[in-house]
Amino acid sequence: MLTPAEDASVAEYVYIIDGEITLESDNSVVKLNKNDFFSFSNINKTVILKCNAAPVTLLYITSKPTFKHVKMYVSNLDELIKKVDEKDHYTQKHCENVMDYAVAISRVMKCSTSIIEKLALSALFHDVGKCYIPDEILQKPGKLTPEEFKAIYKHPIHSKELVEPSFGEEIANIVLCHHERMNGSGYPHGIYGDQIPLESRIIAVADSFDAMTTKRPYNSPKNFKEAVEELLGLPDLYDIRVVKALKKLVDSGEIYKVCGNKVNILSSEEKEVDKK
Ligand SMILES: [Fe+2]
Ligand SMILES: [Fe+2]
Repeated sequence: MLTPAEDASVAEYVYIIDGEITLESDNSVVKLNKNDFFSFSNINKTVILKCNAAPVTLLYITSKPTFKHVKMYVSNLDELIKKVDEKDHYTQKHCENVMDYAVAISRVMKCSTSIIEKLALSALFHDVGKCYIPDEILQKPGKLTPEEFKAIYKHPIHSKELVEPSFGEEIANIVLCHHERMNGSGYPHGIYGDQIPLESRIIAVADSFDAMTTKRPYNSPKNFKEAVEELLGLPDLYDIRVVKALKKLVDSGEIYKVCGNKVNILSSEEKEVDKK
């Protein structure tokens, strides 16, 4: 993301050495390729910069030394991601999937750039608090005891605490509420409906969708259509507008572009769509 700088006199310049990126602000999308460049100065809103095909190599030039702040921000992110990966490789993959699904849903819902920005960060770190849950519980294939569930129920609180120092109160609150449900049956606080931030309601759908469609020790995965149908039948738990946006992605086949090579189980019908 390119965010407005505190010092308006700073000029920044980016040259694409290799790869392809997309720049998105509220009303425009621009694709840039190898050897293209762009510069920015005194921007008033966030611009999302998306790497379309990895690896992307950029040359960044700035008129004042702002990179120190970028480096600090990136190393905080890096540390959090490493913590999750060391604990449980599945969780890291899951967090990346949830981020991609959540951002795609928010685009169908025509959310603003600022919501998409908050959503991307909070989705990526929603389960970071799982690094405090003992391995035996996290990896347990069988049914969990009530005590073990209690430990699991605390992970949104841990995630909030880990995220807050780097990303602030608003992102931390979105992360905290990702297991809240529309009828108040979720955790940790049992809030309901519009009390739950929109971003958390989107993460909740993306989160369950990824869990349902991914092979885990305790479940066999559903295909995308089965999973979205099941979510549509649970309006007490999930925001129906969010689930309908996900359904649009599944029905149009867009979901396969979102998940890239992550598809791990497809019905024969879905495989046909996938080939197209
Ligand atoms: Fe979670
Ligand atoms: Fe999750």
